Formats: sequence, structure tokens, C-alpha cells
Amino acid sequence: MRLSIFAAALLLATPALAQQPAGNADNGKKLFEKVGCWQCHGLVGQGSLLSGPRISRTALPLDAFTQQLRSPSNDMPPYEAAVLPEAGVADIYAYIKAMPAPPDPKSLPLLTGMGAR
Ligand code: HEC
Repeated sequence: MRLSIFAAALLLATPALAQQPAGNADNGKKLFEKVGCWQCHGLVGQGSLLSGPRISRTALPLDAFTQQLRSPSNDMPPYEAAVLPEAGVADIYAYIKAMPAPPDPKSLPLLTGMGAR
């Protein structure tokens, strides 16, 4: 009986846990600059053809994001736990996820040809 109450409480608590912010975006910004993510991905995660893809507002789930840092798929250098502990990864993830959305290209006169005149 006591066990089933515990199980029910756990079930009720699970969605609340899932909604908690996983990391601290302010600290993530500091780490993003300190460990050098910006050098390849740009200061606002915009990426560049030559150094690294856009990562702003990444669509990757946290576990795939962590996997990319621990054992990158290709040319990116690995970030081991000694350099970037789990909490730091979550903080950087929170920072990248909270980056502002880019403006709609149709709202930019230069891209619609209006600015050329
Ligand atoms: C020396 C350049 C370099 C640095 C520094 C670097 N990256 Fe990367 N990153 C890359 C490249 C190149 C790729 C493309 C995949 C690969 O090579 O593994 C990539 C891929 C990624 C991806 C996957 C993008 C996608 O959507 O598939 C993420 C996420 C990422 N990097 C995050 C980071 C974070 C966070 C840091 C800092 C902790 C960082 N990177 C530091 C070069 C870099």
C-alpha cells in the first residue's frame, strides 16, 4: 500500500520534473565563451561554412547534444567531462535553446530587394 502511494506520487511528480529548466543559461553563456564554442559556431551560435554549423536554438535533444560534445560526429574537438562537466553541458544547452529566433527574412528589406534601390 505504502509502495503504491509512493509510485503514484512519483508518477504525479514526473511531468513537473520534466518541465524544470535543465540548466542555467547565464552560466551557459559564460561557458560558451570560456571553452571556445564561439570560435567555430559564432558568438550567437550562427555558425559558419568554414568552421562549424549553426547551433543557435538547436533541435537536438539534450542527450544527443551531450553525445556530440563527448564524441563528436566528425571534425569538432571532443569536450571531456574533466573540461566540461555534465552540469556545464546542461547550462550551455539552456543558453543555446534560449537564443532569440532569427527575424523572418521577408521582414528584411535587403533580402526582399527593397534595400537595393
Ligand atoms: C574547432 C571548432 C569547434 C569548436 C571549438 C566547437 N565545435 Fe561544435 N561543431 C564543429 C563542427 C565542425 C561540427 C560539425 C560536426 C562535427 O564535426 O562533429 C560541430 C557540430 C556541433 C553540434 C551539432 C550540430 C548539429 O545540429 O548537428 C553541436 C550541438 C555543437 N557542435 C556544439 C558545440 C558546443 C556547445 C561547443 C563548445 C562546448 C562546440 N560545439 C565547440 C566545430 C566546433
